Amino acid sequence: MAGDTHADRARFAAMTEGTREDWAIIAGHFMPFAGKLADRLIAHLTLLDGDYGGFPVDRLQHSLQTATRAHRDGRDEDYIVMALLHDIGDTLCSYNHPDMAAAILKPFVSEELHWICAQHGVFQGYYFFHHLGLDRDMREHFRGHPHFEACAEFCEKYDQAAFDPAYDTAPLSFFEPMLRRVTAAPKNSMYVKKTETA
Ligand SMILES: [Fe+2]
Ligand SMILES: [Fe+2]
Repeated sequence: MAGDTHADRARFAAMTEGTREDWAIIAGHFMPFAGKLADRLIAHLTLLDGDYGGFPVDRLQHSLQTATRAHRDGRDEDYIVMALLHDIGDTLCSYNHPDMAAAILKPFVSEELHWICAQHGVFQGYYFFHHLGLDRDMREHFRGHPHFEACAEFCEKYDQAAFDPAYDTAPLSFFEPMLRRVTAAPKNSMYVKKTETA
């Protein structure tokens, strides 16, 4: 980090030697770092730019189009941001990409939105697994789950429909303020003290 000096760093070589002063220094660095989460997500989303993988649109355009369709259908900001990020794991979680977006979103969104994101890969499979010799009904494993219909709806209305090169897709800059608002403060995290309830 710019401006880092040794005075800005903890002195321990192993955490067993750590002191309250050390952790005050570290905690002082954490909030500015965490505050730049949205910037890191934007940088990572742009890694999908130009990455077609054989699809009619590249993975960034697919992500933007999924979010645009959700926005134009009147979804709330948390939902739109989930739609924007749902495939961000394609780069580093090539064999389980929904897990990555779900993990990123977990502190910020409802349990239902987290579930939709985590399971969208299986539900999206309804639209193509049979072309690859797989079971398109793999999602039936989840039939009866409280979020089954919501996840099926996400894939039907927004995700499977977001491969149209002619669609008027909103740019990433349109979604940036939403992404910043949704990721500004975690609703649940093991690093955040629970507030006492009366
Ligand atoms: Fe996906
Ligand atoms: Fe997708």
